[in-house]
Amino acid sequence: MKDSIVKELENLIGEDWVIDDERLMEDYLSDETPSPVRPEADRDVILVKPKNSQEISEILKYANRKSISVVPRGAGTGLCGAAVPVQSSIILSMERLNDLIEVDEDNFTMTCQAGVTLEDILERVRESETLFFPPHPGDEGAQVGGLVVENAGGARAVKYGVLRNYVRGMEVVLPTGEITSLGGKVIKNNTGLDLMHLLIGSEGTLGIVSRVTLRLYPEPQASVSLIVPFEGRHEAIGTVPQILKQGMIPLAMEYMERDLVEKSAEHIGKKWPVREGDAYLYLVLTGQDKDSLYSKCERINETCDSRGSQDVLVAERRKDEEKILDIRSNIYTALEPESADILDVTVPITEIGRLLDEIDSIAEEHDLDIPVYGHAGDGNLHPHIRLKDGRKPSNMERIKDEIYEKTIDLGGVITGEHGIGKTRVKNLPQALDDHQISLMKKIKKVFDPNNILNPKTVVDIDED
Ligand code: LAC
Ligand code: ZN
Repeated sequence: MKDSIVKELENLIGEDWVIDDERLMEDYLSDETPSPVRPEADRDVILVKPKNSQEISEILKYANRKSISVVPRGAGTGLCGAAVPVQSSIILSMERLNDLIEVDEDNFTMTCQAGVTLEDILERVRESETLFFPPHPGDEGAQVGGLVVENAGGARAVKYGVLRNYVRGMEVVLPTGEITSLGGKVIKNNTGLDLMHLLIGSEGTLGIVSRVTLRLYPEPQASVSLIVPFEGRHEAIGTVPQILKQGMIPLAMEYMERDLVEKSAEHIGKKWPVREGDAYLYLVLTGQDKDSLYSKCERINETCDSRGSQDVLVAERRKDEEKILDIRSNIYTALEPESADILDVTVPITEIGRLLDEIDSIAEEHDLDIPVYGHAGDGNLHPHIRLKDGRKPSNMERIKDEIYEKTIDLGGVITGEHGIGKTRVKNLPQALDDHQISLMKKIKKVFDPNNILNPKTVVDIDED
């Protein structure tokens, strides 16, 4: 990009924080999307690292005036290419907005700048010994701004929901440079159209979230993780509604298969602790006292037993619980080198078994391997389309379309977690009708009339 742009940006935020040496930008050009589908980055970029919302505002005002694209960037843990610049752009890294501003124990909120990581948040609530931040969307290196604009989900979303359910307030810098605050610490808020919830899940296309106020919960006094082994997937999956019908909402309820958890455990130098079974339900239960938790465990045990489960592993020590969560969280990283793509299709929980069978038939028909695991408690599954002979299958788009069609037929959605990003813009018409896509495009134009903020993400208004 032109030297004059570099100079101008240096004037705005200081020369130490404007980088145009290609070697120092390598880590900012990709994200965690599997490489066979990851969009190719345009290398004509300048990296900027502002310190606060005022500096972000100055950068956006300048970029808007000059019609230069700006791609906001958190920790780059996304899986659909949202943070990859696909045209000449300014990459706006949030890493220096890393101040954890306030924990308000009485209002159960935490306010932090957008670059604070999930790891920092979890550590801070652990220190408090009274507070709890339940969601765990896998990679603890993720930044809170990214978690919010991606509306991240993860394993621990069954009891309290996805990120959207935790956002009370935010500060946003609009693409035209204005800074505004939405929501606050309040629990109820019906003041007009809910712009805050429009920003949540907008994948960096409507504004740059610079500060977030998160809802916290009281720390549960007791927690236990269960691994329930079954011989087959249908026994395991069919048990999910039975557990929920008993009135027990676990923090997490995952479905995993033996070969995947063993691979993941090996990948991180650990050992999968269960010998029996090929299909597992992994549950995390939390409560205010051990006794009531034990009686819940017993009831779950009985339900699972009546559906043919084998010996249940009960993990109570934090270390053991963390090991299981770690193995679960690393299935993706273990499979990634041999994956052409990962999907996050989501169906009503009663349809999970059927979708698994449909995916198996699609895999068989195309002579492919498509292992699946996922969040059984919320119907969100992760089929991995494996490389074939070391390459992306030639008909992969067709295969994905088939999986998406089956998902929609079963009352589901094509993405419950990872979003549309850049890799799925082409799939949107399969999932939404023209009215919905047209409204989304109009909304994008209202926020960002010059289409500078993360263009070609979620909707592509250039194609009209
Ligand atoms: C997971 C990520 C891939 O659930 O969403 O592991
Ligand atoms: Zn997931």
